[in-house]
Amino acid sequence: MKDQILVTGGAGYIGSHTTVELQNAGYEVIVVDNLSNSNENVIDGIEKITGIRPAFELADCTDFDKMKEIFGKYKNIKGIIHFAASKAVGESVQKPLLYYRNNIVSLLNLLELMPQFGVKGFVFSSSCTVYGQPDILPVTENAPIKEALSPYGNTKQIDEEIIRDTIYSGTSYKSIILRYFNPIGAHPSTEIGELPNGVPQNLIPFLTQTAMGIRQELSVFGDDYSTPDGSCIRDYIYVVDLAKAHVKALDRMLTDKSEKNLEYFNLGTGRGLSVLELINTFEKATGVKVPYKIVGRREGDIEQVWADPTFSNEVLGWTAEETIENTLRTAWEWQVKLRERGIM
Ligand code: UD1
Repeated sequence: MKDQILVTGGAGYIGSHTTVELQNAGYEVIVVDNLSNSNENVIDGIEKITGIRPAFELADCTDFDKMKEIFGKYKNIKGIIHFAASKAVGESVQKPLLYYRNNIVSLLNLLELMPQFGVKGFVFSSSCTVYGQPDILPVTENAPIKEALSPYGNTKQIDEEIIRDTIYSGTSYKSIILRYFNPIGAHPSTEIGELPNGVPQNLIPFLTQTAMGIRQELSVFGDDYSTPDGSCIRDYIYVVDLAKAHVKALDRMLTDKSEKNLEYFNLGTGRGLSVLELINTFEKATGVKVPYKIVGRREGDIEQVWADPTFSNEVLGWTAEETIENTLRTAWEWQVKLRERGIM
């Protein structure tokens, strides 16, 4: 019997890519998703890529009884990867209670249910947002946690604390907290990718939609930062590389390789790229022009952040491999596919 892995938010952007990699690695996946920011077609995409259709449960992780029912239905859940969460920074400022309820109650439900059902490992989807603007770059896992700039960021910090306190209280399971930098790109098959609702808030979907002519112009938020070209710097990481790190994290806990019951890993490339460099690289890699204009800074943006991935490289045994050019090409190919399908 294969080990079963429950992937909450498995129909979402990072969740779907991770489900593919888990299935490729021989795990049996159960996707739990309320489809609030995704679509059941994603499950078809996963099946097309891997030849295996993951089990799918339409459920909201904030619903304790429903989650308990799911744990009872599948008898061999050994690990959980918890992606299901609200993630729009701006929206979280408008609707803080929605963010606190979604992102915290779902975590509490999972942590409470896990010991009753013999789960061994819990992977949590966190963010480099917990570091705020780090004093030292590149940022390591030991950097101090800075005050959150949005309710969204705060939910990630609170969730990390809840996991820490729970693990330290003595639990039957281990946990790995993965802090993502900026995941971008799409699966090379173009069967799955990023599909935000409405006007994209994140850079890459806005950029590819502009390149497609759906949006008139990309706004570059600020060129007066203390960076070489004045625009913000981020660590853009290929979503398939990121997905593979989750398989490593699970393997590590399920085979008892992790030395501690709780570990933190940065998932980034170690390379910072400015917004203007990114636009330039996209244009060179795809041959497609991106009309853009410089506008004022976006509130809450951090000037520059990129990862020190040494600990992930050495201890997790994982390294981001794809080049930024190829990554950006996959983002563009995905956009072209959406157009062909009449979606965007
Ligand atoms: C933000 C969050 C991160 C969260 C992620 C997911 C912070 C500091 N970061 O990442 O925690 O996980 O969203 O939603 O809260 N940009 C433009 N024009 C645009 C869009 C973006 O210039 O139209 C710039 C931004 O100023 C930034 C970079 O592009 O410098 C990346 O922005 P974005 O893709 O939104 O990600 P983050 O803000 O880094």
